[in-house]
Amino acid sequence: MSRRLMFPRWLRAWHWINAAVFLELVVTGFSLHFADAGASVSFRKSVIMHNALGVALIDAYLYYLVRIVVTGHWRQLMPCRGLLADIAKQTRFYLLGIFRGDHHPFVATPERRFNPIQQLAYAALVVLLLPGQALTGVLLLYPSLLPQAVVETMGGIRPIAEAHSVIAYASTAFLLVHLYLALTVGEPHTGVGAMLLGDRMPAPEPQD
Ligand code: HEM
Repeated sequence: MSRRLMFPRWLRAWHWINAAVFLELVVTGFSLHFADAGASVSFRKSVIMHNALGVALIDAYLYYLVRIVVTGHWRQLMPCRGLLADIAKQTRFYLLGIFRGDHHPFVATPERRFNPIQQLAYAALVVLLLPGQALTGVLLLYPSLLPQAVVETMGGIRPIAEAHSVIAYASTAFLLVHLYLALTVGEPHTGVGAMLLGDRMPAPEPQD
């Protein structure tokens, strides 16, 4: 029987490299932000590590963008018709059904891997949070890229630093929700094991 891969190898490799880089960025970012409060890593070391990790995250993001366009994987992140009703169904499941042992309202397949809430969270990450974090990070690293008139209107680059921090907190909130959703998937072909091993699903039986 032919079997279809739930998470292709390139996606799994990207996911875990991206996750490792992201987590180290959170640690070094907090270390920089709270340097006065006696962070464990020295300020200078944190700056060097944070900048290098930021460049790695941007590279990984560009790689992901190219691959999702080339493979058509971007469709997985596009909301389907009836999104609001689907979100309501999925929310009811997370608030009530999950504690009663109900079945998941959406069954993951290689064609549609994510439930509507996962889909929305990933789309927000890919379209807003990662590019926002990258753009504000690059502008903090190279403030001369900003036209002088813009810097004067903002009264310096502090608003960019604040936007960078706000997006970092939002991305950390994404991670907490992501972990909860990933650990409560409860189906054999999705979840952490599948993101590690790819996991194969039986191909559908041909219809007579
Ligand atoms: C470190 C712990 C992490 C674990 C255990 C984890 C687990 C998973 C799992 C199991 C999936 C498969 C689908 C699902 O169940 O939602 C997934 C997908 C995904 N994760 Fe993570 N993840 C982690 C960290 C991260 C981080 C730090 C990011 C980004 C900042 C991230 C971004 C994504 C994205 C974008 C997808 C969807 C991939 C696609 O396009 O198919 N994950 N993750």
